[in-house]
Amino acid sequence: MTSVGIDAVEIWTGKLKLDLPETFAPAQGDDPEKYTKGLGLEASSFPDTYEDIVTMGANAAKRLMDRKGLAPDDVGRIDVATESAFDNSKPVSTYVAGCLEQVYDGDFHHANKGERKFACISGTQALDDAYNWIAAGRNRGRAALVIATDTALYARDSSGEATQGAGAVAMLIDEDPSVVALSHEQGYGSADETDFLKPQQQFPSVDGKRSMQVYLARMREALEDFESQASTHPEDFAYVPFHTPFPGMVRKAGLLGYRHIARNTDLETEIAEEIGRQPREEDFDDREGYEEAIQSYMDDLKRTEQYQDWYDAAIEPTLSISRQVGNWYTGSVHIARVSALLSAAETGRGLTGDRLLVASYGSGAQAEIHAETVREGWREEVEALTVDEQLRRRYDLTFEEYERVHDAHNHDLDTEVEEFTQPSGEFVHAGWGRMNERKYEYVE
Ligand code: HMG
Repeated sequence: MTSVGIDAVEIWTGKLKLDLPETFAPAQGDDPEKYTKGLGLEASSFPDTYEDIVTMGANAAKRLMDRKGLAPDDVGRIDVATESAFDNSKPVSTYVAGCLEQVYDGDFHHANKGERKFACISGTQALDDAYNWIAAGRNRGRAALVIATDTALYARDSSGEATQGAGAVAMLIDEDPSVVALSHEQGYGSADETDFLKPQQQFPSVDGKRSMQVYLARMREALEDFESQASTHPEDFAYVPFHTPFPGMVRKAGLLGYRHIARNTDLETEIAEEIGRQPREEDFDDREGYEEAIQSYMDDLKRTEQYQDWYDAAIEPTLSISRQVGNWYTGSVHIARVSALLSAAETGRGLTGDRLLVASYGSGAQAEIHAETVREGWREEVEALTVDEQLRRRYDLTFEEYERVHDAHNHDLDTEVEEFTQPSGEFVHAGWGRMNERKYEYVE
């Protein structure tokens, strides 16, 4: 079988920006460094009043189709991953297809459409579904469109408020891909957890501190499962994009991941000269003693040159977009991959044939680890992106404007707010139909 993976990618950020240190922190009476240094975030992106998960997803998909010169007939599958859906029956992918059919000749009537839900990990699950469909030879030469789109809003004054974000990532999955090929091997860590959920409600119920523990526990399990099939030596991977609810979470996951993948390798031996070998559970009488030893080892590991060099090279470059936009839920790990590739392109690094270790996660909870091999066309693809321009052009909200925008997107409120930006060459939410369906139109 030829390789299957991501042939092209596009992102669409919500057009509004909330500056965390300048605007949010003073209004909350907080030290700005809690956000910039603690959480690792500079800003959140928000949808303007005419934007939602459909417009952001359709706009990213249109840009991708235009750039790749695709017609509807070339696409045999449209899957949308989201945890911000507004309908329990009609999938967002049908709305997205309806939007695209307004502007292209032809239609998607013979494309299979669906919607994937499992918190943030569903973006990767939709990618896996597309991979499997193509690898099974059921695609009839057609590609799959996978769209991860979310408005990651939390209730006002809740613990997650500073980590909000909104945006979409569209990915074209195909044989012989230009950007990355996905590995057969996958590792899973999955358990019935109650840390973050939305039981028939728009904004999440979240136990923030516990959600971080659950993230790390499931990630460790997924890594162990992946390691049972493939090597994970730190030097085998150019970058390790993690699901990034905020960069501070990845700082913790990176340290845990490194300890794990360095164990029983030449690196552990090298580091042992400075801080000793990693504690092994069998050497301890009780769990408590073992955990204390692990904590102390991690504190030392964090300060070693080997770890810091690895973090700076493999993790830091994955965080640059996230710092500016916040959590995009289903799209988050996919913008981490884009950030890494953009960083390699900007620094003139050769990446073809190098590998990425991709660590996805969704609350509730499940982690998934797979590897990717960078393909020859990666540079051309990422150089076509307009991420910097999109981020620069966002409208910078005052705190009072932010409050109104949050209300405008709150499904329980009926708040009329004028738009802050002018739509141009994009799909917009234009009102409601007779069955309460959302209506969209393309603005030239
Ligand atoms: P919080 O109470 O806002 O913040 O909650 P904090 O007091 O814990 O501080 C955060 C960090 O900033 C800490 O760093 C502080 O020390 C530091 P740490 O000790 O953890 O390394 N800090 C400062 N640093 C420098 N200068 C200062 C300063 N002040 C504090 N002045 C929390 C944080 C994550 C709980 C909150 O933001 C939250 O509830 N977020 C939502 C849940 C979340 O994102 N969980 C992450 C894991 S679960 C996940 O990723 C899944 C998710 O994406 C959903 C899905 O899958 O669908 C969320």
